[in-house]
Amino acid sequence: MARSQWGSRLGFILAAAGSAIGLGAIWKFPYVAATNGGGAFLFIYLGICLTLGLALMLAEMALGRASKAGAVGAFRQLAGGGWPIIGYMSVLVCFLILSFYSVVGGWTIAYIVKALGGGIMTSDAKTLGAIFNGFISDPLEPIAYHAGFALLTVWVVAGGVQKGIENLSKFLMPALFVLMLVLIVRGLTLPGAWDGVKYFVAPDFSKVSSAMLVDALGLAFFSLSLGLGIMITYGSYVSKESNLLGSALWVILLTVATCFLAGLMVLPAVFAFGFDPSAGPGLTFITMPAVFAHLPLGQLFAVMFFCLLLLAALTSSVSLLEVVTSFAMDEFGLKRGQAAWVMTLGIFLLGIPASLSLGVWSEYQLFGMGVFDLLDYLTSKLLMPLGELLLALFVGWKAWPVVRRELAGDGAGRRMRLMRGFCMAMAPALIGWIMVASLRAA
Ligand code: PHE
Repeated sequence: MARSQWGSRLGFILAAAGSAIGLGAIWKFPYVAATNGGGAFLFIYLGICLTLGLALMLAEMALGRASKAGAVGAFRQLAGGGWPIIGYMSVLVCFLILSFYSVVGGWTIAYIVKALGGGIMTSDAKTLGAIFNGFISDPLEPIAYHAGFALLTVWVVAGGVQKGIENLSKFLMPALFVLMLVLIVRGLTLPGAWDGVKYFVAPDFSKVSSAMLVDALGLAFFSLSLGLGIMITYGSYVSKESNLLGSALWVILLTVATCFLAGLMVLPAVFAFGFDPSAGPGLTFITMPAVFAHLPLGQLFAVMFFCLLLLAALTSSVSLLEVVTSFAMDEFGLKRGQAAWVMTLGIFLLGIPASLSLGVWSEYQLFGMGVFDLLDYLTSKLLMPLGELLLALFVGWKAWPVVRRELAGDGAGRRMRLMRGFCMAMAPALIGWIMVASLRAA
């Protein structure tokens, strides 16, 4: 049977962007930029996305189109030997990410409910901080919402309603963009907001450290959905004529644009209302309600914002669960529904200690981190960079003839040589250097 293909190039780009744009851009980017002192972080993040990010996304898409297979299958088919380990690793990482991603996805549902109730419509920094911290440290409530988010995800993956979600997000993702623009304009017209803009965009390279570099590296891979076989899987449905370079560029541009807008949306408000920029994972949730409180029809905007954020999160979590589900179907011969539910149960269970570690279990730590932070650290700062390092080596040294053939139409000549050199040596060296430097500093 012929492998099905995307209806159009636009369909492919939107699906890949749907996976990429999510909590990474809107929840994670602002607080990681803020805790790294703003300034230089944005530029380093952009630099990584446009070099490493672009080359590796292109490589993943090419591997997928060449092998017509998913995360594990692509390596097995193109090389065999020990290489499929990269694929197995990415399935594991998807599983680990999804467990805490679903906890945060649950927070977005909780905030829809809170916005409907009106309790968050204030601009008092203390009150908003207390509401958020009270909520995430509760032993039950966030877990119930985590279950809700996991159920939504498995419902999409097992129920085969992906098409519906894709159609929905075609309209609603642009709506999210427009809403973010409205919120940015409102935020920027608040007194004191420009300090936040300065903090965000004025590069201060004296703040660069190995910890910041590894944060930027991990966030680049996380926000672009790289290193987990997702772009391999999506690439496997692309027709031969399609230009992969252009598609990869579009996905990256849309994602970094969303990150940039999210930063402009959150950081000025942080300064205008006197929040603490290093508040960490709660930053978007704590800060945005203050902006809604200063908008006419603010409550409506709040509900809309958290609904659209939920949708953006869902299109990403679906891509993660899809990797894990197809793996369980292929390896264990399970049916789609069974595979999706079994995996989701495991993901849900692992999410429970992750959520509790932000409250009642905060004193249980390993390497100075609770379960939530540990999962985040393990995936973003260790396993994803390691996966990409191996992938670059694989492309440069092992699968280059295949990748070159796939990309021949897109960027022949000098660009191809550059790409190969990049994969063989520059990308592995850069990733390896950043990882080692940050481990030594830790
Ligand atoms: N890129 C998604 C986001 O930013 C998260 C994700 C990471 C999805 C890795 C798939 C793979 O929300």
